[in-house]
Amino acid sequence: MKATDLLKKQHKEVKALFKKVDDTENARQRRQLLDEISQSLEGHTLIEEEIFYPAVRGLETPKAEEMVLEAYEEHHVVKLILAELPLVDPEDERFEAKMTVLSELVEHHADEEEKEMFKTAQKLGKVELESLGRHMEERFEAFCRRASEAA
Ligand SMILES: [Fe+2]
Ligand SMILES: [Fe+2]
Repeated sequence: MKATDLLKKQHKEVKALFKKVDDTENARQRRQLLDEISQSLEGHTLIEEEIFYPAVRGLETPKAEEMVLEAYEEHHVVKLILAELPLVDPEDERFEAKMTVLSELVEHHADEEEKEMFKTAQKLGKVELESLGRHMEERFEAFCRRASEAA
């Protein structure tokens, strides 16, 4: 699968998880969904930062450079919120507010990637995108295995 298609698929999956959190009032379920969201986002940002962004940056255009730098900063904010979430009780009124902010942030970030960065990334060519995609998929799976072993 092309790297850009893999990332788009993961964006869709995480958006669906946010929707599920919205649809349940059950604190235990919310906590579980939240753990799933955290793990998906951690794995997703990891393969972007380790593999995909450096490849886009390698295109060496000012636009690619600017988009990648901005994306790293957005990931940074996402990680700050993720780090706080385990400390918030799902029944606390702040839980919902934090989830909304996180979900809006992720949505905005993912849309920008898809509309701008992934378009630019097509310049890497189909063969390179397929090869990056395979590499990223393996890296993502290894990350998830390690995370579930640690849990
Ligand atoms: Fe990203
Ligand atoms: Fe992404």
